[in-house]
This record gives sequence, structure tokens and C-alpha cells, in this order.
Amino acid sequence: MELQDPNLRQRGRASLDFLAQMGVAAAPVSQKVTSEISDQMDPDKLPDDLDERDALINAALADSRAFATHRLMGDWHSRSYTRISTEAFEEILPELQPVLDKTSNGPASLELDPDLPLPDYWDGVHFHRTDGGWDGHEHMGYVHGEIIHKKMVARFFPGGIFQQRQNVAEMAPRDNYKRILDMGCSSGHFTTALANTYPDAQITGVELSARMLEHAFRTANANGWNWKLYQRPAEDTGFDDASFDLVASYILIHEIPADVVEKVFAEAFRLLEPGGDMIMSDATRYADLDKLGVWKADRGAKYGGEPFWRETASLDLAEIARKVGFEDVSADGIYPHVVKGRKPA
Ligand SMILES: C[S@@+](CC[C@H](N)C(=O)[O-])C[C@H]1O[C@@H](n2cnc3c(N)ncnc32)[C@H](O)[C@@H]1O
Repeated sequence: MELQDPNLRQRGRASLDFLAQMGVAAAPVSQKVTSEISDQMDPDKLPDDLDERDALINAALADSRAFATHRLMGDWHSRSYTRISTEAFEEILPELQPVLDKTSNGPASLELDPDLPLPDYWDGVHFHRTDGGWDGHEHMGYVHGEIIHKKMVARFFPGGIFQQRQNVAEMAPRDNYKRILDMGCSSGHFTTALANTYPDAQITGVELSARMLEHAFRTANANGWNWKLYQRPAEDTGFDDASFDLVASYILIHEIPADVVEKVFAEAFRLLEPGGDMIMSDATRYADLDKLGVWKADRGAKYGGEPFWRETASLDLAEIARKVGFEDVSADGIYPHVVKGRKPA
């Protein structure tokens, strides 16, 4: 048994296939909903207020079978995926355990802090409607990192979720970084892209979830990487000023409130050496979508367990980057939306 991308047993594989196929099958139903809305109203004239927009569309689609079906599919999917993935994990645990034990040692380091005051916006919040939240299972790092991501999300998310991380890692302006910080490193997928792109760099990760960090730690050990992993908030890392030459993140921002986003950017600025680079990437900005696109994204976030999506997707991240001191700021791309900036030399 390999640590990463495991072979599941037949039952787990079939259940995960069903979940993935349901994600694929939801796409044409969603298109049908969109065309029904367009038949009934001019999407450009929808209300600016997002709650009013949602209420108007809900009323218009009250008798729509496509709308009801889409809602049911999404709800069942959100309610079921943690249970199905955890069951698939438990089926392979006997063979996996020796691999988990073996990869608990190696070149990486992991500093967990049982006394860390976890922020209210994170603690007890079931992001993505994950049962119990990011720390909801003893092996949630494995369940999320290897099973949910690789056996489900990767199959219905457009563009290749791992290729996207690799693309973002390669978008940093230089190719010779030596000290990289990954903020919100979770189970280590973007950290892996950074390690592959900058093999000579010392890579550090900060993350609030102990369970996610444990899987990142095992991933690093399995690959011979000497990552330094810390259970610390991205907005208050405790590292010295000028500790890094690249500070990066991949889809952290939509999971934190808007005021914390600014603190995270300010912390990135503090942590960079003069001339150092920041690259933060996240979900599509509402400003880059039409009114119907915003409605869909907003509704998906509301029912999909994304409490800060609306407020962060409404931010101008380039403006925040400039406000905290970055220069040469750029913000491009629909998904992911990538914000870059340099600390003045
Ligand atoms: C969507 S995941 C990030 C995924 C990861 N970067 C990857 O490439 O797979 C967001 C992560 O950010 C973490 N997180 C949320 N708020 C945080 C904070 N203030 N500081 C550090 N990590 C945080 C969450 O626990 C979660 O693991």
C-alpha cells in the first residue's frame, strides 16, 4: 500500500465513483436551471443585492423540477461525502497502518500546539460541510487529502486540481527561492507543488488543523522533503521579520473573514525579506462574473459550507496588497484568481 492515492476496496471505490459521477451529472442540471432563469427574466436586470437576487430567483423557480433536483443532489452530496470517504478509509486502514507508522518519521518536522487558541471563525465550523470540520476525524488529513481530493473532487472539478496548484507555484516571478512559506498548507497539496517547483528551497507550512498537518507531515516524510510544519494562524505566525523570500497560499483566503484577509496579507509583508515575493490564489472574484454567475457561486457557497466566500469573493485583493505595502501588484485569472506583489527592496 502506498501512502498517497491508495487503492480502495471495491465498496469504497464504488461509493466514491457514485459521488464523483453525481458531481458530473449535476452540471447539465445546473445548465438547465440557468436556461430556465434566462427564459423568465433578463439576467442583467437581476437585483444588485445578493439576498434579493436569490429570493427573486427562488420564487421564479418554485415549480422547476431541474431546480429542485439540483438542490437535492447538492444536499445529498454534501451530507454524504464525509461518511462515504471515511468508510472507504476505514476499509483500507489495516493495510495502510504500517505505512502511516513508517511515514511518522523522516526529514520533516511538525510542531503542534495543543494550547493554541483556535479562532472563532474556524473552530467548530464545518467547512465544506465536512462532518466535524477539518479536525472531525482522527485521520481527517488522510481522508481529505487522499480520498476526498483524489477520488472525488479531482474527478468533477474542471481544470485538474493538482495541475492548478502546480501552475500557481510556477507563477511566482523567480525560480531560485530559498525560504518559502505556504500559508494554510492543509494536507500539503500546494506545498507539494512548491516543493516540486523549488527543490532547493526550505519549505515551511502553517495551518490551524492538526489533522491536516499530520498528513502533510507524512507526505513530506514519504517524499524525503524536510518541510517545517507548524500549527499556527497565517495572520500571526510568530516567525521573525524577513524570514522568507516567497510567501504563498492556495485557496486559503475564501476560508477566512475579510478582516483576517488583510491581516494575512500584512503578515506576509512582514515575513518577507526586502525584495521578497507574495503570491496568493483563490476562488473567482464576484467582480469577474456576471450576475447569474455570482448567484450560482454565492448559492453554492451558502449551501456548500463556505461561510466567508461571499465577503472574500467581493474583496479587491490587489487593493489590499497595495494597502499593506506591496508594490508591482497584479491580480489575474478567473479560477484560480492569483494576486502577486513584491515587498520593496
Ligand atoms: C481549502 S484548504 C487549503 C488547501 C491547501 N492549500 C491545498 O492546496 O490543498 C484551507 C486551509 O486553510 C486552513 N486555514 C483556515 N484559516 C487559517 C488560518 N487563519 N491560518 C492557517 N490556516 C488556516 C484550513 O484549516 C484549511 O486546511
